[in-house]
Amino acid sequence: MTNNHVPTVFGVLVVVAALAAPANAVEHAVERPALATPGNAAEAEAILGAKLLVCNTCHGADGVPRNTATPIIWGLQENYLVKQLHDFHSGDRDSEVMAWMATALTQAELGSAAAYFAKKNWPARSAGAAATPPAIVAVCQACHQQNLAGGLPAPRLAGQRYEYLVEAMRRYAEGERTNNAEMMNIMKALSPAERDWMARYISGL
Ligand code: HEC
Ligand code: HEC
Repeated sequence: MTNNHVPTVFGVLVVVAALAAPANAVEHAVERPALATPGNAAEAEAILGAKLLVCNTCHGADGVPRNTATPIIWGLQENYLVKQLHDFHSGDRDSEVMAWMATALTQAELGSAAAYFAKKNWPARSAGAAATPPAIVAVCQACHQQNLAGGLPAPRLAGQRYEYLVEAMRRYAEGERTNNAEMMNIMKALSPAERDWMARYISGL
C-alpha cells in the first residue's frame, strides 16, 4: 500500500515543482536589485524587463495606450520621464494609480525605467487634419520646442492625445497638478475653450 503511494506522491511533487519553477524564476528576476547604470537602456531592459511589462497594460505594448486619457510615454524626453516618476513617487504629482506604480520601483529603477521608455520610438500615428496653428503656439514653443516635439526644457506634446492633453491642462489650471508653477500660471491664463482648442490642435500634430 505504502509503496504504491510513493510514486504517486513523488509524481505530484514533480508536477508541483515543475509548475512552481517558472513562477519562482520570474519572482527572483523581479526581486533582483536594479544594477543598471543610470541612463543605460540596454541594461535596464535586461534587468527591469519583467517589472516594466506591467506598464504596457495601460501605456500599451506597442506604445499606444488603449485608453485615450492615458498618456503615450514611449519616446518622451528622458529628463521629463525621470521627473514625473519621482513626482508620482513623492506625491508632488497626484495620481493614485501612478503613485502605486512608481512606489513599486526603487529610486534607481525609476531612472532605468525612464531610460527604457525614452529610448523607444514615439508610436507612429495616422496624420491628423492639418490645422492652422493658434497664435499662442509660439508661446508654447518657447519651451516645448519647434513643432512641440519637446526637448530639454519641456516634454513632447505633439501627437499626445486630446483626452489626456485637455485633462492635463485643466489640472494645471485648476491647481490639481501642482508639479510645475509655470505651467499652472500659463494654463490659468487660458479659458477652458482655449485649452480645448489647443488640445485639439496639438493632438493633430
Ligand atoms: C493601471 C494603468 C497604468 C499602469 C499599469 C501604469 N500607468 Fe503610467 N499612467 C497611467 C495614467 C492614467 C497616467 C496619467 C496620470 C495623470 O495624469 O494623473 C499615467 C502617467 C504616466 C506618466 C506621465 C506621462 C506624462 O506624459 O506626463 C509616466 C512617465 C508613466 N505613467 C509611467 C509608467 C510606468 C513606468 C509604468 C510601469 C512601471 C506605468 N506608468 C504603469 C496609467 C498607468
Ligand atoms: C516656460 C516654459 C513653458 C511654456 C511657455 C509652456 N510649457 Fe508646457 N510644460 C513646461 C514644462 C517644464 C512641463 C513639464 C512640467 C512637469 O514637470 O510636470 C510642461 C508640461 C506641459 C503639459 C503636460 C505634458 C504631459 O505629458 O503631461 C502640457 C499639456 C503642456 N505643458 C502644454 C503647454 C501648452 C499648450 C503651452 C502653451 C500655451 C505650454 N505648455 C507652454 C514648460 C512650458
